[in-house]
Amino acid sequence: QPAKMWSGRFREPLDPTFEQWQRSFPFDVRLLPQEIAASSAHAKMLAAAGVLTPDELTKMIHGLEQVLPSATDQAEKLIEPFSDHAKNALHSKVGFNIPLNEMIVALNPDAEDIHHFVELQLTKIIGGLALKLHTGRSRNEQIATNMRLFVRGAIDSALEDLLSWRKALIDLAAAAGEAVMPSYTHLQRAEPVLVAHWLLAYVSMLERDSSRLADCRKRMNLCPLGSGAVAGATLALDRTIAAKALDFDAPTPNSMDATSDRDFALEFTQALSTLGIHISRFAEELTLYSTAEFGFLDLPEAFSTGSSAMPQKKNPDLTELIRGKSARLLGAAVTLSTLIKGLPLAYNKDLQEGQEPVFDAADTIDGILKVMPSFTRALRFRFDKMRTASQTGYLNAMAAATYLTEKAVPFRKAHEKIGNAVRLGLETGRELQELTLDELRAFGPEFGEDFFAAITLEATLDCHDVIGGTARTRVRAALEDARRKIAAE
Ligand code: ARG
Repeated sequence: QPAKMWSGRFREPLDPTFEQWQRSFPFDVRLLPQEIAASSAHAKMLAAAGVLTPDELTKMIHGLEQVLPSATDQAEKLIEPFSDHAKNALHSKVGFNIPLNEMIVALNPDAEDIHHFVELQLTKIIGGLALKLHTGRSRNEQIATNMRLFVRGAIDSALEDLLSWRKALIDLAAAAGEAVMPSYTHLQRAEPVLVAHWLLAYVSMLERDSSRLADCRKRMNLCPLGSGAVAGATLALDRTIAAKALDFDAPTPNSMDATSDRDFALEFTQALSTLGIHISRFAEELTLYSTAEFGFLDLPEAFSTGSSAMPQKKNPDLTELIRGKSARLLGAAVTLSTLIKGLPLAYNKDLQEGQEPVFDAADTIDGILKVMPSFTRALRFRFDKMRTASQTGYLNAMAAATYLTEKAVPFRKAHEKIGNAVRLGLETGRELQELTLDELRAFGPEFGEDFFAAITLEATLDCHDVIGGTARTRVRAALEDARRKIAAE
C-alpha cells in the first residue's frame, strides 16, 4: 500500500479499488503550476514566521521549481521513440485531456492528488526538508487557492480572445459598409437593417460577456492561503505575504468561507454559459443564412467540411459544433450549482467533483474562441441576395405608416391604411412602391407624391434615427463607439 499523507491513525489499508477511484490526481495534475506557485507562497510565509531559515526557504523554492521540469522530463523520456508528428499531438493543449499530463499520472500511481504528488516529488529532490512544507496548512486551502489561480488564468485568456473576436466582428461590420439585410421577428421578415447593425448586435453581447468575466475576476481575486483546514492557520502566518506573492488583492476574510467557497467557479461557468448562449445564437444564424433557402453567405471552405456520401455537400460543421459545444458550458454551470447547493460548511470531498466541469468549460471556451476570429474574418456575404430580400415582402410598411403620421394621421389609422395597401399589393403581386398614387389615395387622401421617397430602402433605414437604431449615421457612430470600448479595455 503506498504511503499516504494521513495514514497515522489508520490500522487497515484502503480497499484497492476505492483507493484508485477516489484519487483526483488523474485530473488535478493540470494544477501543477498553480500548486507550485501556491506552495512557494506558503513557504515564504513559513520563513517569515521563523519556521524555515532563509537557507531552507531558498532550498525549498529551488526544489519546488524543479518539480515541473523533472516530472515533464520523465514523461518526455517515455515518448522519445515517437515520431515528431505524434509528439506534437501529445504536446497539444487543445481539448479535454493533455496527454503529457496523463503520462505524469501514469508514472506516479501512488500520488493521491496534486498536493500529495508535489510533496512526494519535492522529497525526492530536496529530501527531508520537504516534510516541513505542510506546516500550518491544509489541502483544503490549497485546492481553493489552486482553483482560484486556474480560473483567474482562464478568465485572462478568455478576455484576450474575446477582444480579438470583437475586433474581427467590428472589422467585418465596417467592411459591410451600407449593405442591407432583412431583420426578422418571429423569423418573419420585419424591417431592413444594415448588415453592420446586425453584426454589432453580437458585439454588444460580447461586451457584456467581457464585463461579466472581468467582474468575476475582480470579486474572486482574494487569497485563501492561511485559512487552514477550516478555522484558520495554526500558526501566526502573515497572510498578506502569500496574497502578494500570488498577485491577489488581499487575503480572504473568513477561513470557513474561503475553504468551502466555489462562487468564483460558479460565476465563471455561469458567465461562460451566457457567452455560450450568445455564440450559439450567432452559430445558429450563420447556419441558417448559409442554406440555399436564405443564401446570404458562402461558407468559407477552410472552415467547412464535405460529406463522405453526397459529393455536392459543403456542411457548416464549425457553426454546428459551436452550437453543440455551448451545451457543455451550460452543463458545467449546472453541475457546479447542484454540487454546492446542499453542502454544509466547510470543506467536503464533494468539492473535488467541481474541478472537472471548470476545466472542461475553460477548455471548451478556449477552443471556441481560438477559431472564432479567423472564421469571422473569412466570412463572405452575398450582399446582392440580402438586398433583394430586403426589398421584397413589404419591409417598408412601418416606414410607410410613419409617413402618414407625418401627415397628421393617428398611427393606429395609418397602420390600417398601409395594411389595406399591403393587402392590395399581395392580391396584385406588387410591392408598396409599385402601387400608383391613385390606388393609394383610395385608402386615404393623405398620400402624396413624396410618399415614394419616404419608403425607399435608404429612407426606410434612415427613419430609425435614434441612439441604437439602424439609420446609417447612427450605425457609423455605433461602430466608432465599439472600437473606442476596445481601445479603453
Ligand atoms: N483532492 C482534494 C480536492 O480536490 C484536495 C483536498 C482534500 N482535502 C481533504 N480534506 N481530503 O478537493
